[in-house]
Amino acid sequence: MSPIKVGLLGLGVVGGGTWKVLNQNADEITRRAGRRIEVVAVAVRDVEKARALVGDQVQITTDGMDIVRNPEIDVVVELVGGETLAKDWVMEAIAQGKHVVTANKALLANHGNAIFAAAQEKNVMVAFEAAVAGGIPIIKAMREGLTANRIQWVAGIINGTTNFILSEMRSRGLSFADALADAQRLGYAEADPTFDIEGVDAAHKLSLLASLAFGIPVQFSKAHIEGITTLAAEDIAHAERLGYTVKLLGITRARKNGIELRVHPTLVPSSSMLANVQGAMNAVMVYGDAVGPTVYYGAGAGELPTASAVVADLVDVARLLTADHDHRVPYLAFQHNAMADTPILPMADIQSAYYLRLRVEDRPGVLADISRILAESQISIGSMFQEPAVNDETDIIFLTHEAREGDIEAAIERIQSLDFVRSPVTRLRVEEL
Ligand code: NDP
Ligand code: HSE
Repeated sequence: MSPIKVGLLGLGVVGGGTWKVLNQNADEITRRAGRRIEVVAVAVRDVEKARALVGDQVQITTDGMDIVRNPEIDVVVELVGGETLAKDWVMEAIAQGKHVVTANKALLANHGNAIFAAAQEKNVMVAFEAAVAGGIPIIKAMREGLTANRIQWVAGIINGTTNFILSEMRSRGLSFADALADAQRLGYAEADPTFDIEGVDAAHKLSLLASLAFGIPVQFSKAHIEGITTLAAEDIAHAERLGYTVKLLGITRARKNGIELRVHPTLVPSSSMLANVQGAMNAVMVYGDAVGPTVYYGAGAGELPTASAVVADLVDVARLLTADHDHRVPYLAFQHNAMADTPILPMADIQSAYYLRLRVEDRPGVLADISRILAESQISIGSMFQEPAVNDETDIIFLTHEAREGDIEAAIERIQSLDFVRSPVTRLRVEEL
């Protein structure tokens, strides 16, 4: 069979890795795909650098439109990143009837619904395994392997940079800035690392996972997002003492009245699998009603692991090239005309357990007043401890049972107004998984 012709938009960390994997495993990939996968053109900014990697046989351009409009190319692989050029090039590729593979979660989180609709119209595939959790085949697992299940929740460490930073700070005592610099040097971080540390990248990925889990449109703009920049070392230490580890989790969960969609630092039991995911590794837990809990673990970023997912998509495209839409797996796991309009819940209506740290004056009646407010707000205390007082001030730490977030926020507001409270109450969410 004739080779499938690929145009690569971008030859950076992931694009370069894709080139390497396609070459180093060419025979194995051909045996699996049934035909050769051949990169015939690449788009970059720095032509000389690209030439040094791909040699003279591949066309190199600085304008992606040359690739997406090239009639010889069957599949366009978008590995440029961002939402401007990448969107124009992807939309034009689809308009030209080309299949698209992308690792760009920002693009899909913000424009996925329009991209999938256009692709549906043109009968082309849009594959995005690398966009969520790098090398872990989580999209495949959720679209195909778990297709028998009603998914109840998904919780994942889906940003390698923040997991790397939290791990390095904890195990090597590195500062936040040094750990971030290392993550950037290793190629894990986004071009704009605030996307990583503020939780935006994880929310991009989570909004895709929620669509795959619940058959809803991609709704990144409705995700609740908190990053790790305001996380205090003392809360990480208190959590450890209580038997928990702090991880940046993306959580999406089906409730009776809607879907939770949230990214935030979370206390998870130190004995749980997610607590033991270190460095830039990712892990996603999916709970299906038939299968129960399942966990997917692996490298969430980096050159070759991410390329592994890109090439897997290319093989899928090669295998399904001649099939029509009805014989392909739907983009978001559910048939496009069977999507649900289940609402995303406002944060006030989510349910979680909570870690609260209150810095208070150390005098009689303080604990009683706090406990009274929690009780009046229907919040049940699971455990608590008090730090030794320093200069008549002490920290009291509470772990609550599951409560409605709106009730917790209202209680915190009341507690905050008490005259013995010395600084803003710290509130972190706890998941037993
Ligand atoms: P890089 O910055 O390493 O590479 C970007 C590539 O795009 C470079 O080759 C660059 O060219 C090219 N490029 C940028 N702007 C233009 C332009 N205007 N015209 C032509 N070419 C351009 O990014 P990554 O490889 O890290 O990321 C690519 C995508 O993959 C992003 O969407 C990212 O979110 C996603 N991703 C990244 C992962 C990772 O581990 N890095 C993991 C999972 C997903 P030049 O080489 O000349 O500078
Ligand atoms: N910046 C991302 C991360 C790359 O750190 O996980 C993978 O999507």
